[in-house]
Amino acid sequence: MDGPYVKRSENGWDLPTVARRSFLRTSLFGAVGVGLGGFGLASLGFLWPRPGDELVGEVPLGDAASLAALIRTERAPVRVPEGGISIVLWDPANEAAMQNYGTDHQAVLDAETALMALNSQDCPHLGCAVPWCQSSQWFECPCHGSRYNRWGEWVGDPAPRGLDRYASSLDDGTGQFVVDLGAYITGPARTSNALQQPAEGKACVDV
Ligand code: FES
Repeated sequence: MDGPYVKRSENGWDLPTVARRSFLRTSLFGAVGVGLGGFGLASLGFLWPRPGDELVGEVPLGDAASLAALIRTERAPVRVPEGGISIVLWDPANEAAMQNYGTDHQAVLDAETALMALNSQDCPHLGCAVPWCQSSQWFECPCHGSRYNRWGEWVGDPAPRGLDRYASSLDDGTGQFVVDLGAYITGPARTSNALQQPAEGKACVDV
């Protein structure tokens, strides 16, 4: 006959009821602990310095002409991981672009060539990094599928606007492309699509 603290299982093993309760309690606390721990770590992640946070003020990011040539040859932005920046070309001959970007992005190399520094590290939707998609020639966010054209302008849901960016200029003395990390610029409105660039190939992120 089993005592009050012992339960007989089907395979004949005697399992003390107290041990079973203790096991269930430990499991429950363990699960809650893991959940809270994950939440705590995620919260800390927002506070923890990210790569690039140490870059401050005006930072030269390389010879402007060489950067422009590289972007053209590779058909891809130049990525600066330390700052979460993607350097792209924009066209000052495009009237709408000049109106939207001419004031803050003054690294103009010639009539049709200028550089701009996008923040591709923080999607304006919920903050995921937004990689470049070589086939579509767009930035495509893997988290919820927001898409941005080559100039970081919004082209697809759910982001509320285009990619944010930093003011930039050309150092006339050295020819360096200089980005001002202290001058953060909110991305252009959804309606500001100066480039009008359709996807140029297969998407990298299914939506
Ligand atoms: S974080 Fe980029 S689409 Fe949601």
